[in-house]
Amino acid sequence: MSRILNIGSINIDYVYSVPHFVRGGETLSAESRQIFPGGKGMNQSVALARSGGSVTHAGMIGDDGKYLLDVLQEAGVDTGLVAIGNEPTGHAIIQVNGEGQNSILLFPGANQNLAPDFIDRVLAPFRKDDILVLQNEVNCVGYAIEAAKAKGMIVVFNPSPFGSEIESYPLEMVDVWLLNEIEGEALTGMTSAGDIVNTMASIYPNAIIVLTLGAEGVLCHSRGNELRIDGIKVQAVDTTAAGDTFTGYFVGCLAQGIDIYEALKLANIAASISVSRVGAAVSIPTWDEVASKVS
Ligand code: RIB
Repeated sequence: MSRILNIGSINIDYVYSVPHFVRGGETLSAESRQIFPGGKGMNQSVALARSGGSVTHAGMIGDDGKYLLDVLQEAGVDTGLVAIGNEPTGHAIIQVNGEGQNSILLFPGANQNLAPDFIDRVLAPFRKDDILVLQNEVNCVGYAIEAAKAKGMIVVFNPSPFGSEIESYPLEMVDVWLLNEIEGEALTGMTSAGDIVNTMASIYPNAIIVLTLGAEGVLCHSRGNELRIDGIKVQAVDTTAAGDTFTGYFVGCLAQGIDIYEALKLANIAASISVSRVGAAVSIPTWDEVASKVS
């Protein structure tokens, strides 16, 4: 099994149930508020571990986020490379509407305080063919891609949230892309799923491209083959972390030697379970729950 290092964000999520997303100039009362562990990095580490992967999380939190280490450890994540800095832990203000859709406002906090020497330190125990997972909620992402490739590691990148700084990263070094349609359009200028995947595959011919399509399933391009997995119909309660659940399960399965089509299917099941529950990291299913839905 390949070892996985996830350099990623750790957030405290403040989740507000709302009748609709608040509009400019509007004051709106929330119906309820809940506080959950989150952050794309943390969610993906939890999913990586629940899929059976061997994962170490690296990142930064403040004193206020120390309890999140327990959540990661309980899920089976090694937290030995999470630093505690002077800035507060990142947080997210998440509105969830009646359809389970979300709108997220991020405060990066400690997540944006990484430095190149920190990246070098956390990469040090990892070797050729180990896997590095990155999202775009921490800084030093471009540096981490380059440093990991120099060691022969496999680089997985989920360019979320998308920002113009991504264009300055050495994207030709990415081995596995996990995108949604918003990120796919930003990267390619294309709007249809097929065009996004084909354009990504022509720019990055050696990479695996995975485009998640929400309720419509997944489209993947891998070494000249196109794979499609249909969506699973579920009553969505909260779609937060569905993409993170997919990413963690997909990469965790690949790291265990599961073939790509099976990994897509299992990740699709895991994501469909996560949307039927409120919250981010806490909504990610266990391996047994996912396995019980395999037909
Ligand atoms: O992808 C969902 C995550 O995005 C939330 O947990 C929130 O913290 C933001 O990072």
